Amino acid sequence: MTRYAAPRGTYDLLPEQAAAHQRLEAVCRSVFARFGYGEIRVPVFEYTRLFNRGVGETTDIVEKQMFTFGTGGDEEKDTLSLRPELTAGVMRALIEHNVLAQKPFVKVWYYGPVFRKERPQKGRFRQFHQFGVEAVGSNDPLVDVETILVLLSILREAGVQEFQLKLNSVGCPECRPRYRETLRAAAQAQLPQRCEDCRRRFERNVLRLLDCKTDRELNRQLPGPMEHVCPECRRQFELVQKHTGGVLEPTLVRGLDYYTRTVYEVTSSTLGAQDALAGGGRYDHLVEELGGPKVGGVGFAAGVERVVMSMKEVNAGAPLDFFGIYIDETLKSDLFDIVNRLRGAGLSGDMELETRSVKAQMRNANRSGARFAVILGGEERQRGVVKLKDMARGHEREVTIDEAIRIVGAR
Ligand code: HAM
Repeated sequence: MTRYAAPRGTYDLLPEQAAAHQRLEAVCRSVFARFGYGEIRVPVFEYTRLFNRGVGETTDIVEKQMFTFGTGGDEEKDTLSLRPELTAGVMRALIEHNVLAQKPFVKVWYYGPVFRKERPQKGRFRQFHQFGVEAVGSNDPLVDVETILVLLSILREAGVQEFQLKLNSVGCPECRPRYRETLRAAAQAQLPQRCEDCRRRFERNVLRLLDCKTDRELNRQLPGPMEHVCPECRRQFELVQKHTGGVLEPTLVRGLDYYTRTVYEVTSSTLGAQDALAGGGRYDHLVEELGGPKVGGVGFAAGVERVVMSMKEVNAGAPLDFFGIYIDETLKSDLFDIVNRLRGAGLSGDMELETRSVKAQMRNANRSGARFAVILGGEERQRGVVKLKDMARGHEREVTIDEAIRIVGAR
């Protein structure tokens, strides 16, 4: 018989593993709400040309990592791609629905699947998940700070063991062209020692050299953008650093084209080679480039899988409130009704639907971690009551179903 495996770079979450993901999602929702962000949901695929324009033609993501497919028509310009990130799609939606015309400052969050055709390894998947925020409509660096505080609050509240915030500025259209020339001149001499990717990057987008993971040593010898930014970029950087306590990382340029000024990344040494938990930054021209108004924005995205990997205790999920136990098989269907009455009253509970001995049922009740056992014997059935056993204390007493609901429900 053929056995089927999940595609390379994807994974399944079984209920116990899903519990940690649910816990992280609950933390995210709570923090997003506290900071005044509203949820946005956009499609998992878009027209390829949105990503070409939005993420950038010379980025690794667009050059090598998109899952692209036809629309059924054969026009090249209409191919679709699974989203390799959410920022471009979110901007497309805000522009398409005129949101920025009605509300000049918008704060949204998202949580969902993302697809990149990368070589799978620890912490790197082809289908992974991101949560993130985008705050659009303001050039004030305090907004950059706020997005960073959202991210740090989530990581702390989710119990991430250890992480560092790294900051840099990639400048603006005023100062970046000058820096680019300085960088080109310095990098030219290193070209013979550099990897093939770097030589290509040198021609197409020299800033991306700093992103190379192979030639890190050589990168340290190059001038960083912060040494060449204009006074306004420097002022904004200093303000962000003062409010967040982030550390300047001179080679941080990020792998997407839309950034201006602030860029940031949070890494964790608990992760190994793929050590970035999250990345983000400011993009002052993206909205306009995608056909929207001339407004700036800032945001981040975090990798759910990597955050879960670095969370301290992975809570196996809330235990059940009760577990139902029947003394003999003829009582099973009456117990089934009682269990469902308790569930209907908002309690979480379970019972064996296969026929099992009382001993086996008790063993499973213990394993489930349920706080109470609701036990039905023949005599109890006749009198319309059950035995309620407090599993931690071992007490047992006879109660009506309504009393059971009240006692189990009072935590
Ligand atoms: P990014 O740095 O490409 O930024 O991705 C953000 C995070 O997604 C990374 O820090 C990492 O945790 C996770 N990630 C990326 N690739 C993979 C993968 N193959 N497997 C597992 N996790 C991965 C963005 O996507 C930007 N859209 C962030 C942003 C929002 N900038 C402004 N707004």
